Amino acid sequence: MNADEALKFVEELLLEQGKPLNDLQRIMFRGAWYGKTSKEIYQECSNRCSYEHLIQNVGPELWKRLSDVVGDRVSKRNLQGPIERAREDRSQLEASVPSNGSEHMPSETYMMGDLEEGLLWDDPKPKREDWDNVPEVSAVFGRDKDVQLLEERIIVNGCRLVVVFGTPGIGKTTLAAKLAHKIKHQFDYFIWRSLDRPPTLQALTADLVQFLSNGEETSTDLSRLLYYLRNQPCLIVLDGLEAVLRGGVHNGAYQDGYEDYSELLKRVGQTGPQSCLILTSWEKPKEIARMEGESQRVFALKLDGLGELAAQEFLTAKGAFSCTESDWRLIARRYEGNPSALNEIATNVREVFGGNVEHFLEHLQYGTALFEDIRSLLDRQFNRLSDLERDIVECLVTRHEPLTIPEILQAVARPISIIEVQEVLQSLLRRSLIEGSARYSLQTLMTEYITHRPLD
Ligand SMILES: Nc1ncnc2c1ncn2[C@@H]1O[C@H](COP(=O)(O)OP(=O)(O)OP(=O)(O)O)[C@@H](O)[C@H]1O
Ligand SMILES: [Mg+2]
Repeated sequence: MNADEALKFVEELLLEQGKPLNDLQRIMFRGAWYGKTSKEIYQECSNRCSYEHLIQNVGPELWKRLSDVVGDRVSKRNLQGPIERAREDRSQLEASVPSNGSEHMPSETYMMGDLEEGLLWDDPKPKREDWDNVPEVSAVFGRDKDVQLLEERIIVNGCRLVVVFGTPGIGKTTLAAKLAHKIKHQFDYFIWRSLDRPPTLQALTADLVQFLSNGEETSTDLSRLLYYLRNQPCLIVLDGLEAVLRGGVHNGAYQDGYEDYSELLKRVGQTGPQSCLILTSWEKPKEIARMEGESQRVFALKLDGLGELAAQEFLTAKGAFSCTESDWRLIARRYEGNPSALNEIATNVREVFGGNVEHFLEHLQYGTALFEDIRSLLDRQFNRLSDLERDIVECLVTRHEPLTIPEILQAVARPISIIEVQEVLQSLLRRSLIEGSARYSLQTLMTEYITHRPLD
């Protein structure tokens, strides 16, 4: 029995009681039949009721009515069993009682009532999708909580502008891809663009407008892009925003020729509720930092490394290593759960130590843990810092402990005001290089990088 047949059957039973299902109950029924989560079901009726109303009133009332009418306990999780049994019982009963031809099934038209097209879950795909070079997500470890949090912000809270930011190689693109796979069917249009070789805003706008207008329009006007975002549910991912952000100065400036990306972010943050723009970036853009405080519709997630268990699963999948629990933990911590760094470690352990992690760790005691690729990741991050940021970062390394603002003020070699220290810390936090709120410390890998860095 599919959802249509099941719905038709229960409508028939309920009609005998004189009270048919309403639209929200039908939507809930179909979603539950196809095993959708409450949040996914909510998407189908978000403009008709609140999420709370759906789960606190619509659902419970529906399960009660169904339980009463089929004489068995019905819930969202066990919907199919009781209804199939009730239909079977009914068929047997009807087979044993000869029909006089006067009992007609209510008409199909009535059954489906006002159920709108588009509420059917048979084809859970956006109308149009363009994946560009999205990475594979079949072997992604950990990240379930991050995906869940982002899904909730976007689908339940209606966030329109989301940034996932974090250090190079930490897994931002992978997370965004996993999320996109999960939520894309909630939108009519889905498009993924890598900003590896960033287009000008005009070129990007033209590309997006052409896609969102089904090829009917080419316009470099940002207002046209916003028009489509307001009027049809679109999910856009722009991967690697750092390519248009400037290094060598405090966080927040744009590369020459890309300043108008700032306008894109600001205006999307204020657009209507239909669409969502997801960005990945090494840095939290300043526009998002500002809007985040003012609007529930803008959200920034700082992505940390993989947890110990996920890091262990990640490494185990890379080869047959002999390793104790505590060694796994040590490696995960030492490399901050950074998958790119862990990848390089796995290669090294396999090639140089024949898969023996203990031997690898012994050698780590005598030198730096930074292999070439890891160093080049950190180079990329360090080279973006302004002179003042470098001074403060180096002073955090020298003092070997988390420092307060007054302590930093005293420790920095050059004369500097307290406001400047605050601005630099804000910038370093947005660049996910330091951690803390009253006392600030540098990331472990960056500390090691700076300690072993050849002097200029
Ligand atoms: N959760 C994960 N499970 C398995 N592999 C992962 C995971 N996260 C990242 N990786 C792998 O680690 C590498 C780096 O991941 P990814 O490209 O997503 O990082 P990134 O933060 O986007 O890097 P960049 O800052 O350079 O853009 C990739 O090879 C990816 O497949
Ligand atoms: Mg990336």
